[in-house]
Formats: sequence, structure tokens, C-alpha cells
Amino acid sequence: MSLENRVLSKYIPEHIAIIMDGNGRWAKRIGMPRTFGHKKGSENLKDIALVCNEIGIKALSVYAFSTENWSRPKAEIDYLMALPAEFKEVFKGKFKDNDIRVIFSGRKDRFPKKVQELIIDVEEKTKERKGLILNICFDYGSYTEILDGVKEISKKFKKGDIKLDDITEDLMHDHLYTRELPRLDLLIRTSGEERISNFLLWQLAYSELIFVKKHWPAFNRKELFKALDNFQKRNRRFGGLKEDKS
Ligand code: IPE
Ligand code: IPE
Ligand code: MG
Repeated sequence: MSLENRVLSKYIPEHIAIIMDGNGRWAKRIGMPRTFGHKKGSENLKDIALVCNEIGIKALSVYAFSTENWSRPKAEIDYLMALPAEFKEVFKGKFKDNDIRVIFSGRKDRFPKKVQELIIDVEEKTKERKGLILNICFDYGSYTEILDGVKEISKKFKKGDIKLDDITEDLMHDHLYTRELPRLDLLIRTSGEERISNFLLWQLAYSELIFVKKHWPAFNRKELFKALDNFQKRNRRFGGLKEDKS
């Protein structure tokens, strides 16, 4: 059986996350500026989102810009801030044809006004779509996400709207950006780095982690299927005891 057919005959994860790392290194290797890597990386995101939608994944969370990435040179930041606008045609075109909804997770208050408006517009215009939810994590950091959630919960507690015993895992989940998405099954990080870099710390509690050598612009359909195949061979125990798949 082909790799694709094997993967498609088994459990397809509902929610996968990708740390799209290695754009700069990919570009450097072919003698191009880092920004060229970001351009190819954003084009690749479109392709991978379409594949995820095609095979029935419900949500794809991608790390596009971290709360720490503001420390990069201004020219690189300016380039990255212009990328969502480049995507506009895709949101209206290919993504519309495939019923893909787009949401953004992150701070939303530090972008140029144009980017803020675009984000609101895209979320609004795609909100009725029923296919894949593409969750673009942009000015995203897990510390901020969790702290903001804790502050919201604290306000409700102070007002007397909730009691101490109401503060549960489910309530915390409901105060995260990912509240609408299924539980996270799998995280893939490209480019060989084996760290989390402040991404989805709460959501990753029982996710499977896969680190691949390929840089993000070179992570194609075949690489995605290889990662899914790897995921399907894992024995997820969630702290309990389950049958050995080996
Ligand atoms: C990931 O690629 C994209 C962003 C962080 C915005 P990098 O820009 O981190 O590329 P490398 O890791 O330096 O190669
Ligand atoms: C993580 O990559 C953030 C994104 C992919 C957007 P980084 O390149 O910023 O992470 P570090 O600095 O290698 O940990
Ligand atoms: Mg990097």
C-alpha cells in the first residue's frame, strides 16, 4: 500500500500544530536573503493547509510570528508584517473554494493598523466556512496566552461570577485562544531545532511531538504524510496503559 493510502486508512489527527521554522536557513543555503525564505514559507503554508483540508484534519495551528520575534531586525519584521496582505487573494480564492476558515491567535494590538484590519476582515469573512480551521498564530506567545486567560478568570472570580472550585482544566481551556479547536494531537517542528519556543504550552500536554530536519519551505505533502505515518505508529497512553502497537 502506498504511504498516502496507509495513512488515510488510519486515524487522522483532528488538530495538528506546526512550528514553521527554518525559512532563513533555507534561503541562505541557496544564496538568497532571509526574506525570500519567508516568501516561500508563506506559499508553502497555503499548500500544506490545502492538503490538511483535503485529508480531513479539522484544525491546523501554525506558528507564524512569536511574541519574541519582535527582537529581529526592523526590515525583516516589516517584511513579515506584509505577508498577511499577500495572502488576501488566497483567502478569497483557493481557501474559499475549499471552505477553509481562517482565525488568528495572538496579541492583535501591536500590529500596524492595516494588518489589524485585515485580520478582523479575514476572520469575519471566513467565519461560516465548514472545512479546515487554519489558526495562524501571529504575535503569539504561550506565556501571554496563559496569563491573559488567568487574568480573565481572576476577574470573574473577583466579581463573584465563579467560585474557586469552578476553576478547572476545562475552564482554563475555555480561556485560551484555541478554545474553539479540538484538543491538540500532534506538533511538528521543522528545521531540526528540538524546542517549543513558547508555543502552545498548555495545549501540548499530551500531544505527540515530531521534529523533522527539513526546513519549512521544503516541507511538502510527502513530508506531511511521513509525519502522520510516524504519529499513527505512536502508542498514546495518556498516563494509562494501552496495547502495544509494535
Ligand atoms: C521561521 O523561520 C519563521 C519565523 C520565525 C518568522 P526563521 O526566520 O526562524 O528561520 P531560521 O530559523 O532563522 O532559519
Ligand atoms: C519559532 O521560531 C517561531 C516561529 C516559527 C514563528 P524561532 O526561530 O523564533 O525560534 P527560536 O529562536 O529558534 O527558538
Ligand atoms: Mg528560526
